[in-house]
Amino acid sequence: MAPRKLAAGNWKMNGTLAALAEIDRLLADQPAPGCDVLVCPPATLIHALTARASGRIAVGGQDCHANASGAHTGDISAAQLLDAGASHVILGHSERRADHGETDAQVRAKAEAAHKAGLVAVICVGETEAQRDAGQTLDLIASQLAGSIPEGATAANTVIAYEPVWAIGTGRTPTTDQIAEVYALMRDRLSARFADGAEMALLYGGSVKPGNAAEIFSIAHVNGALVGGASLKASDFGPIVAAL
Ligand code: G3P
Repeated sequence: MAPRKLAAGNWKMNGTLAALAEIDRLLADQPAPGCDVLVCPPATLIHALTARASGRIAVGGQDCHANASGAHTGDISAAQLLDAGASHVILGHSERRADHGETDAQVRAKAEAAHKAGLVAVICVGETEAQRDAGQTLDLIASQLAGSIPEGATAANTVIAYEPVWAIGTGRTPTTDQIAEVYALMRDRLSARFADGAEMALLYGGSVKPGNAAEIFSIAHVNGALVGGASLKASDFGPIVAAL
């Protein structure tokens, strides 16, 4: 079976209740999108967004703790995300890896917690510009995949997002050849390690816009996008969803 197509929006630390009007616009413009649509707002909006979307789009968190509960002030568990209405959680985003020092082992533990709670883990990998310039991209991605994805991962509970750090929020994107090279490696590694690795959805993230989405989606093994800035407005996210 071919991987499911997924257009995902990562709102990061943007948006208050008023921003949910964008979801109304998105749903009005695209009553029946040709792919799965996921929006990951700040945790404060998960419950309200779930109610607003009434099952028409999936809702996700942006991080979870590896533990199920306990004395972890400011953190949120996978079960709490599920309880609020989330079906997915983004893990190991480069901003969490950089701002909070998250390691592959921690991302893997969080993914295990997400799976245990019944959430789909959207696990992010990606190289910095210095790593790309040093010719380390493929080794780095292989190592992040090996270290961040737990053994229990399946095509049903795991999505992988490749986000070159230098392409996030910069308006710069890799060439189609550079993207294709990384996806060939990822598909190869996932197929070798997991029984249904050929069916795991692979997203691209990093300056996806209405103007470049179709070209990116035409690259082999790219099954969708994880969109940051352009997911905040229905007028930008809608055309990206439509391009998939
Ligand atoms: O997770 C999505 C993200 O990091 C990409 O951000 O703003 O470049 O689309 P942006």
